[in-house]
Amino acid sequence: MSEAQERTTQRQDNEREPIIRVEDCSVVFGRRAQQALEMRRSGKSKAEVERETGSTIGVLDANFEVWPSEIFVVIGLSGSGKSTLLRAINRLIEPTEGKIYLDGEYISEIPSKQLRQVRRKKIGMVFQHFGLLPNRTVLDNISFGLEIQGISAEKRRKSAEDTLDMVGLQGQGNKLITELSGGMQQRVGLARALATEQEILLMDEPFSALDPLIRRDMQNLFLDIQGEVKRTVVFVTHDLDEALRLGHRVAIMKDGEIVQLGTPEHILREPANEYVERFVEDVDYAKVRMAESVMVEPKEVAYTGEGPTVVLRRMRQAGLSHIFVVDRERHLVGLAEAEEVARLVERNERELGAAVDEDAPRVGRRTPLREVLPLFVDDGDAPVAVVDEGERLAGVIVRGSLIAGLTTSTEPSEEGGEDFSGVGNREPSEVGSGDAVERGRQG
Ligand SMILES: Nc1ncnc2c1ncn2[C@@H]1O[C@H](COP(=O)(O)OP(=O)(O)OP(=O)(O)O)[C@@H](O)[C@H]1O
Ligand SMILES: [Mg+2]
Repeated sequence: MSEAQERTTQRQDNEREPIIRVEDCSVVFGRRAQQALEMRRSGKSKAEVERETGSTIGVLDANFEVWPSEIFVVIGLSGSGKSTLLRAINRLIEPTEGKIYLDGEYISEIPSKQLRQVRRKKIGMVFQHFGLLPNRTVLDNISFGLEIQGISAEKRRKSAEDTLDMVGLQGQGNKLITELSGGMQQRVGLARALATEQEILLMDEPFSALDPLIRRDMQNLFLDIQGEVKRTVVFVTHDLDEALRLGHRVAIMKDGEIVQLGTPEHILREPANEYVERFVEDVDYAKVRMAESVMVEPKEVAYTGEGPTVVLRRMRQAGLSHIFVVDRERHLVGLAEAEEVARLVERNERELGAAVDEDAPRVGRRTPLREVLPLFVDDGDAPVAVVDEGERLAGVIVRGSLIAGLTTSTEPSEEGGEDFSGVGNREPSEVGSGDAVERGRQG
């Protein structure tokens, strides 16, 4: 988003009411809640408080607003309080302190019968596995949420069919869930969540069980559909790439606290404190380290004489959204995007040329990472080429490996290099302290 756009959005925001407002919200699990909060606020760590009081601080002094149609992402390590915060929003958990408003209404004061109504009509919640009903058909699953809302059978069917089209599962509506592949099942889950007419969607790591390629598909699909349906979404993830990709704004949590809240751009460029810095980048490293320290071998390259069909096939096999094009001496010619290549295939073109972007960013082996970083901020997901003195392709930098490289103190090209070139993805359980980034994903 440009600064001008950002200002416009902000102005619009000021004229609208936030749809969710969280004020000084804290959640403590355990009996000595008040004492736990006091200790924490006087500077004790979450672990110390837990040792001394036996109470766990789930969320501490959270303050934020979510605007209509916004995708608000909450990110943090395991146990940082993401799910607790999400559940407080629809009152599955009562905050120990603080207030939460939905559309200006203070939800703790809503009587329970009315609260059920609000949940049904206004807030949908999606978990990791979407909770599909295996013995029902695809269409029944999609319309399930509408059924709960008491919408008529005819309207349900129509809406479910429209949604099925949106997620690219036309003609599959009468199959049983169990007859679909895992990725297709995920699409049904997403379709179901989006088919309901609830204004607010709370999503708790909905894509985290997916393999990285399907996950990327689902993220794209989600953004496409969101562009049409414009729900207000609070999206929990522990994956930095996912957060930066999906979020209009991102809140970073640590030990129950929101340590930074801002646009993805803002968070990458101006990390609020050392923790966030370590989470997204290390400025000092960025000054002293060079492109070659985080570059990886390209998994595939395309040669200038090759045809689009051959290249597209190789890209698909390697799971690449972009491929660098070189001549026979490995001089870099440019970068081709899978979508562009596919378009050429559709048009029966024989030459790759029209899909090659010759102005795609390239850097030298010794370009400081500080200069590499903005290329990713501005350009999204495209990888960046590293060339040697003779303009030959020496390696590639993908966003995942750049960020991982910036958050490790050792030379990643030595000790984890091959890992970065794969389409690897760390599971939640493997996420250790500090660097919860998805490792390497090419293109
Ligand atoms: N029902 C509960 N009873 C006691 N403690 C809880 C309960 N639910 C969560 N906690 C604690 O609250 C803290 C925040 O947990 P939460 O589930 O919100 O983390 P999270 O950020 O969603 O983690 P993850 O990424 O693993 O899902 C943790 O220390 C957790 O142990
Ligand atoms: Mg959680």
